[in-house]
Amino acid sequence: MSSVDFFAGSKEKTIQPLSGEIRVPGDKSISHRSIMFGAIAEGTSHVTGFLEGADALATLNAFRAMGVEIEGPENGQVTIHGVGMHGLKAPDGPLDMGNSGTSIRLLSGLLAGQGFEVTMTGDASLSTRPMKRVTDPLALMGAVVETAEGGTPPLTLKSGSQLKGINYALPMASAQVKSCVLLAGLYAQGRTEVIEPAPTRDHTERMLEAFGYNVEIDGPKRAVVGGGKLKAANIDIPSDISSAAFFLVAASIVPESDLTLKHVGMNPTRVGVINILKAMGANIETVSSSFIGGEPVADLRVRGPKNGKKLQGIVIDEADVPLAIDEFPVLFVAAAAAEGETILTGAEELRVKESDRIQVMADGMLALGIDAVPTEDGIVIQGGVIGGGVVESHHDHRISMAFAVASLLSTDTIHIQGCDNVATSFPNFVELANQVGFSIEVAS
Ligand code: S3P
Repeated sequence: MSSVDFFAGSKEKTIQPLSGEIRVPGDKSISHRSIMFGAIAEGTSHVTGFLEGADALATLNAFRAMGVEIEGPENGQVTIHGVGMHGLKAPDGPLDMGNSGTSIRLLSGLLAGQGFEVTMTGDASLSTRPMKRVTDPLALMGAVVETAEGGTPPLTLKSGSQLKGINYALPMASAQVKSCVLLAGLYAQGRTEVIEPAPTRDHTERMLEAFGYNVEIDGPKRAVVGGGKLKAANIDIPSDISSAAFFLVAASIVPESDLTLKHVGMNPTRVGVINILKAMGANIETVSSSFIGGEPVADLRVRGPKNGKKLQGIVIDEADVPLAIDEFPVLFVAAAAAEGETILTGAEELRVKESDRIQVMADGMLALGIDAVPTEDGIVIQGGVIGGGVVESHHDHRISMAFAVASLLSTDTIHIQGCDNVATSFPNFVELANQVGFSIEVAS
């Protein structure tokens, strides 16, 4: 893998407020789903605001390899000529999902009932991630699925399985597993029901509805009846709150900042980062809000602390954990910059993301002089002075960007190793960050 490192933090060491008005790229979760559903719909779907990052492009290329004609992406615009529920063709070789857990887990469900054999592979990180969470329910539905020893990719779906609906209580709060089972349910005989232990992002449910497929929702239950059709739709993708999160934290910890983030997706199953930052005392204002493509959207104005004030350490509400699951690396930076102790529990899922985000963040923060003690399902962080140093991101995009945010307050430069995967979710991160007042140099 090529290596890209960031050298982050101004050499002058005067802390400058962040300012400006930016729009971060499109939502990754919604981008994936727009391609998947557009591909199996009848008719032509148009997408705007598509995230041209490596993860969503892995999904797009997978459907091209299965015979779907897709135009773009160009400036976030994609046109998908849907082939209908049964129009996908067996690809010539394995589908490469790169770094993308969402691609492999959602496609496992969507492809399990296609009637052709398909293998999905991934990069070094994806090849260590657990797939049993999707292969277990798929096997219950009648799919024949093979993985490497230990339940990791490559993952092969054998051909010829007629799926049957199941009633499945999800063992963990995971939108990827929920979506996998529901998508397999589109191809199953009868009704497929999933029960969530806690609310997780509901983009699959919303977008299936937008494509004309009924999803029954009753408290924690979601159900689909197999055998229906999707009809083409036009999808306007909002900015990704998970990418906006780096700037929400940045402007909340740098004194006197005043930053506006445009057109941010505000789906209630994604706003945990805002709830947590507000509980820490952040000043985040919704300046205008609208409803676009079935999803709430808002412009957010974030103002930094004034008069020597800081964010305050808190005990994070476990109900916010699934709603902020991708934002914890940068929330740990907010905790490091805060006054007092921050305690996170109930977040063991962080250990099986693109890296073990609890351990990797704790190691990096220790290297910068912050007292961070990992626990089995969370972390305890004492706010303090962030120093400079060398941190290893383990090629995890969100770890790289989180430490870039830490550099805004660090007493010396932070050398962040292994930043190549920032492009999986946020290709123009460095450009936008430097535009609003960061100081990041990229070395490769
Ligand atoms: C995603 C679900 C989450 C999240 C990931 C995207 C999705 O994963 O971390 O970045 O698009 O459904 P889990 O379902 O494993 O929590």
